[in-house]
Amino acid sequence: MPLQSINPTQTPAWQKLQQHFEQTKNVRMQDLFVADPQRAEKFHLQFKDCLLDYSKNRINAETMALLQEIAVEVQLADAIEKYFSGDLINMTEGRAVLHTALRAPSGQDIRVGGVNIMLEIEQVKEKIKAFTSEVTTGERKGFSGKAFTDVVNVGIGGSDLGPAMLVDALSYYQNHLKVHFVSNVDGDHVQEVLKRLNPETTLFVIVSKTFTTQETLTNAQTIRSWFLKAGKEADIAAHFVAVSTNLQKVSEFGIAADNIFPMWDWVGGRFSLWSAVGLSVSLAVGYAHFEGLLKGAQQMDQHFRTAPFEQNMPVILALLSVWYNNFYGAQSEALIPYTQYLQKLAPYLQQGIMESNGKSVGRDGKVVSYQTGTIIWGEPGTNSQHAFFQLIHQGTKLIPTDFIGFKTSLHGNTDHHDKLMSNFFAQTEALLVGKSDDIPFKHFEGNKPTNTLLIDKLSPESLGALVALYEHKLFVQGVIWNIYSYDQWGVELGKVLASSILTEIEQKQVSAHDASTSFLLQQYLKK
Ligand code: F6P
Repeated sequence: MPLQSINPTQTPAWQKLQQHFEQTKNVRMQDLFVADPQRAEKFHLQFKDCLLDYSKNRINAETMALLQEIAVEVQLADAIEKYFSGDLINMTEGRAVLHTALRAPSGQDIRVGGVNIMLEIEQVKEKIKAFTSEVTTGERKGFSGKAFTDVVNVGIGGSDLGPAMLVDALSYYQNHLKVHFVSNVDGDHVQEVLKRLNPETTLFVIVSKTFTTQETLTNAQTIRSWFLKAGKEADIAAHFVAVSTNLQKVSEFGIAADNIFPMWDWVGGRFSLWSAVGLSVSLAVGYAHFEGLLKGAQQMDQHFRTAPFEQNMPVILALLSVWYNNFYGAQSEALIPYTQYLQKLAPYLQQGIMESNGKSVGRDGKVVSYQTGTIIWGEPGTNSQHAFFQLIHQGTKLIPTDFIGFKTSLHGNTDHHDKLMSNFFAQTEALLVGKSDDIPFKHFEGNKPTNTLLIDKLSPESLGALVALYEHKLFVQGVIWNIYSYDQWGVELGKVLASSILTEIEQKQVSAHDASTSFLLQQYLKK
């Protein structure tokens, strides 16, 4: 069954929340903390080794109760069950959304079209495990008999951002293999990567769910030609593997059937890092750590599926986001991890969140009359403090910010870590309390909302849970906003136009466009 269509703004809870907002919008958090010293006790959640303190938000108990009422009135519980059970909730593409099955415990029975998909998932996991072992132990060799030293992941969007983020995030756990990423169709990108590589010892993982994506196929062809300057056609089998749903196109490219890692249309690209799309992650850190990621995500799935809304971390984060987006009119949210390992978390989540919830048509097919998807951005602290924090502290915009920090540093540099974390705590305190000053330029209003996620340690498990937390948060938001979060029609038009413009460029013949585009194309062709 598809998701129900319920306009959230027509629910009684939304109307009550609107009134509540009018009554409370000028209340300052500083005063809420003075009035209730138990605030942090009340507004925090602990899930495994992850603490969420959401007390530094413009909320009181009534706000949270009303937000939860909205969740009930838009039938969130029903939507969660449909999500996990493989209902066709990606209605506009007629697909289930089952990235959660990729990390479900083995032995479960999850069906798509009557078939238990867990069997296939297990087979692919076994294949990833065996392949990872063969490559990392050096048992699998390149065409000249040498073990592999480098792996190149060739893909874009969900076939790049997730693996790239995870490989970076888990570099502490990384083995001897060097993993590189080629994504942009910009030829300088692929050349910069290739110039550092030896074809004899490099393995290429071509990742494309559709195997029709211009960027990935162009890069794959360029790499193939580069490789064939050293190796022969017959050597391709040893050096190229593919991850795709499109087995036909992969074999047309010349990749041996044995070297294909299948994926499925019930996994969206931006949620595919848990599938064989994560092969380069498994190669980088070993299969046991890859499994650790899946385990952490699975635990978060379990929590999300079973915890009551008031104790449910993804639900709470989503409701707070709706509160600022739809009532305070906040346009964007920042995400600041206090670890350099998570420098690619924000770009990764930008696709997850903005490709999913950047929609303006409701599930009833009508244009919505309220705001949907938030803009997400961020950089690790403390670097970001010296870049854009000025605007968060003293700018005119309200930017709810998530702070993610870890109790322990991986390399054990306590001196550095204590300095890092003192900044982490200082920033949320400063954003909350502000500072009065007679000189207006030095006055800090405070009252800036933040969530703090304090996690014991960055491990495959805690990272898996963190990523799943944001996946479920965006799901809840999509349910509330009554949109379809799992399609991405918005990226198609540009692709189609690029293809016809490419023909014009190749033929040096500019066809009819708007005046600006024609002018620009003419300038380009003059080069
Ligand atoms: O352009 C958007 C998109 O369809 C993403 O959703 C997807 O992750 C990316 O392109 C890459 O697609 P593919 O894996 O099919 O090459």
